[in-house]
Amino acid sequence: MTQRVAIIGAGPSGIAQLRAFDSAKKSGREIPEIVCFEKQDDWGGQWNYNWRSGIDKYGEPVHSSMYRNLWSNGPKEALEFAEYTFDEHFGRPISSYPPRAVLWDYINGRAEKSDVKKHVRFATVVRWIDFDESTNLFTVTTEDLKTGQTETSEFDHVIVGSGHFSFPNVPDFKGIETFPGELMHAHDFRGAERLADKDVLLIGASYSAEDIGVQSFKMGARSVTYSYRSGPMGFDWPEGIEELPLIDRFEGSTAYFSNGMSRSFDTVILCTGYLHHYPFLPSDLALDSPNNVYPDTLYRGVVSENNDSLYYLGAQDQWFTFNMFDAQAWYVRDLILGELTIPSPSEQRESIDAWLERFNAIETAEDEVKFQADYIRDLIELTDYPMFDLDEVTRTFMAWKTDKKKNILTYRDKVYRSVMTGTMADKHHTPWLSELDDSMERYVSAAPREKLEDLASNEHSKSSKA
Ligand SMILES: Cc1cc2nc3c(=O)[nH]c(=O)nc-3n(C[C@H](O)[C@H](O)[C@H](O)COP(=O)(O)OP(=O)(O)OC[C@H]3O[C@@H](n4cnc5c(N)ncnc54)[C@H](O)[C@@H]3O)c2cc1C
Ligand SMILES: NC(=O)c1ccc[n+]([C@@H]2O[C@H](COP(=O)([O-])OP(=O)(O)OC[C@H]3O[C@@H](n4cnc5c(N)ncnc54)[C@H](OP(=O)(O)O)[C@@H]3O)[C@@H](O)[C@H]2O)c1
Repeated sequence: MTQRVAIIGAGPSGIAQLRAFDSAKKSGREIPEIVCFEKQDDWGGQWNYNWRSGIDKYGEPVHSSMYRNLWSNGPKEALEFAEYTFDEHFGRPISSYPPRAVLWDYINGRAEKSDVKKHVRFATVVRWIDFDESTNLFTVTTEDLKTGQTETSEFDHVIVGSGHFSFPNVPDFKGIETFPGELMHAHDFRGAERLADKDVLLIGASYSAEDIGVQSFKMGARSVTYSYRSGPMGFDWPEGIEELPLIDRFEGSTAYFSNGMSRSFDTVILCTGYLHHYPFLPSDLALDSPNNVYPDTLYRGVVSENNDSLYYLGAQDQWFTFNMFDAQAWYVRDLILGELTIPSPSEQRESIDAWLERFNAIETAEDEVKFQADYIRDLIELTDYPMFDLDEVTRTFMAWKTDKKKNILTYRDKVYRSVMTGTMADKHHTPWLSELDDSMERYVSAAPREKLEDLASNEHSKSSKA
């Protein structure tokens, strides 16, 4: 009997899994029957922007936490697919930090080329999954969101690619209910234009806080204040941005900080991260972890320790993204195809413990990137996914960190070299800080008139010196 595989979600992880099976099929191997359930109308996961916040058009929780003017916050050279490069997709060099729509186009380009859409049931949400130990089968209950019809079917394997940056972590702060201004979690933030002339408070000290604060500054916020719990981000902030310790309490529009300072705000945005939350899984199968680079209970970061036929993709905190999901998907594919085997429970635990020991010794960001690079290398070595220079990508990440440290407002203007093709990225025609149009059309358009005039006058002065 042909095996049946269910993939939950058609974000970058789910698509990686579809592409992994497609690649095996193209190399002549027999693949199982695959059904990918995606609750949205289109694929791309987080990259599939939704202007709605809270509840989507089907009454489901909105999945994407991305905002209209989001640009990649890491160099694209660090996430590039090893088997579908930016050069192949765009046909020419592009900049290192593309906006959201451009990265969606890249993800979509690979998926469309692979003809894997036929496996995806869009607008279909997975409601519940049970595992029957007597048959070794999963029963997956789904709902077609367009018709309201529920359906139950059986699968030999389940691959969870539902992401873990969608269910906001919403801590309480004393007196916050008296705050009269706009108050939201980063998950619901859609754009910073309306924060012009506002005093904005961001609680949190990680990527969401950093980027939403800088976006607010870009769009003319009067002041941006970050409030940190463990430690400040410590960038050389421009005038108008400052970092203060944790909030002690709110009294109306005034926030009191733990160092005794107080400030009045128009807007508060909780940038306090997300929860691993799998409402469609029973507790023994649902991953329970903080956001980190080696969630416990996953053998090789993907196989559930509680069930050898249940896999998670992209469950780690992410330095590497798209190419890490690929490495995981190729490995899971080969387990399912029986080309690789899962060791005994005690050997799985030994392996997890060895990685956790190294994880617990991580002290710096560089250690963490190297850890994730080694994790990916370990997976790729087992499969036919093209190996790439993970040490060079680690160096790119370090250069990125240095560039951010030098200037948090201009780091997105820097360019890096692809480890896949050797191509040097092209500078975007407009500095990020003055680029107010985040669309794909604008991004791929020719340089604006001013730049052409600059180039022309440079050429002129060069030629008159010659
Ligand atoms: C605000 C923000 C900005 C980011 N910026 C970057 C960046 O600049 N660069 C970068 O590399 N990464 C970035 N990331 C990381 C991002 O998580 C990954 O790039 C990537 O989207 C993860 O892919 P995924 O498929 O694992 O999860 P997701 O992209 O979250 O996709 C999961 C999919 O599962 C579907 N789904 C969920 N539950 C169900 C269900 N019950 N039934 C059916 N379908 C379901 C969802 O609709 C979604 O399509 C960002 C993340 C966030 C939150
Ligand atoms: N492309 C982009 O520009 C962009 C923009 C936004 C987000 N992202 C991505 O989105 C993902 C999630 O990032 P994230 O910043 O939302 O989450 P995160 O990295 O998990 O960080 C959560 C932050 O919330 C803080 N926090 C949690 N509970 C708190 C509490 N009770 N009080 C005060 N602070 C609290 C944490 O502080 P501690 O350090 O003390 O734990 C941490 O600073 C990342 O992959 C990131 O790359 C990308």
